[in-house]
Amino acid sequence: MTADGLPVRVPAEGLPARVRIYEVGARDGLQNEKGTVPTEVKAEFVRRLAGAGLPAVEATSFVHPKWVPQLADAEQLFPMVSDLPVELPVLVPNERGLDRALALGARTVALFASATESFARANLNRTVAESLAMFEPVAARAKAEGLRVRAYVSMVFGDPWEGPVAVPQAVDVCRALLGMGADELSLGDTIGVATAGHVAAVLTALKEAGVATGAIGVHFHDTYGQALANTLVALQHGVTTVDASAGGLGGCPYAKSATGNLATEDLVWMLQGLGIETGVDLGRLTATSVWMAEQLGRPSPSRTVRALSHQEQ
Ligand code: HMG
Ligand code: MG
Repeated sequence: MTADGLPVRVPAEGLPARVRIYEVGARDGLQNEKGTVPTEVKAEFVRRLAGAGLPAVEATSFVHPKWVPQLADAEQLFPMVSDLPVELPVLVPNERGLDRALALGARTVALFASATESFARANLNRTVAESLAMFEPVAARAKAEGLRVRAYVSMVFGDPWEGPVAVPQAVDVCRALLGMGADELSLGDTIGVATAGHVAAVLTALKEAGVATGAIGVHFHDTYGQALANTLVALQHGVTTVDASAGGLGGCPYAKSATGNLATEDLVWMLQGLGIETGVDLGRLTATSVWMAEQLGRPSPSRTVRALSHQEQ
């Protein structure tokens, strides 16, 4: 470790020079909190994340407020942060969600599909085919309005109800989303069961299906401590967009076994050690997660946040 508390930079062969970290703490993290976080605190969280140098900070969801009451304040929150000079994506499941996002001037929307029928039903009240049909007009209208469209695919590596997920099944959903105009995919290991070889197999299959690596992002959960290993494999396959959640906040309200997302600080620590540029100030980011942990009344689960802030275990 260097005197300023950062890892020593030792670059490795075959990795990208720069990674775009896509921050999901304010959405994927806070949607899973038992209590509702005050809107002002959420806005401050988003502002601090942007201030720490994160280029994309997912702000909230325009979903049905009964389904995710934690984010029911999207209309109040978004205008409080929309002046920030960073990408502020918002989740939209359908045209009603897109209308709400457009009315507030959102520039990037994220659809969220599932590789499995069980999670499509639990999360969207639809079959996989019905949910893709619901997304199609959303993607078309969003593109026509000049918006950037991201498309999550959840349960790519395993599903709590169905068990293992066949690689071609996940690839089919990815191709359908790109076919309707999505600019970027985010491959979700929603319950954190992926291991390194599985990640390589999915990325190889996508490449063989003609999907450009530049259109692929990865979204790992750290349930079994594999998120960083999986990320490194993705980087070795040329992926340069990695989702992470400040302080390791999050899970998913409609997937019981989903635990925390990969912590952004843990990711930044690894990338800095590898000499990969992110634009993120690790000190400011850690201070943000310590502040957020105080708001939530419990310590951050991120190992890096704990190590750098000397939080009690
Ligand atoms: P539904 O009940 O089938 O809705 O839910 P519907 O289409 O039948 O409409 C019923 C009523 O809801 C209508 O009102 C609509 O207008 C209203 P009524 O006519 O009865 O008065 N409605 C809405 N209101 C506000 N905003 C909307 C909206 N849509 C309909 N957007 C629906 C279908 C998709 C709406 C619902 O299932 C839903 O909101 N689901 C969202 C669940 C969610 O956000 N889950 C968490 C995010 S995904 C995730 O966490 C995974 C991810 O993080 C990656 C990973 O970790 O793997 C992305
Ligand atoms: Mg997640």
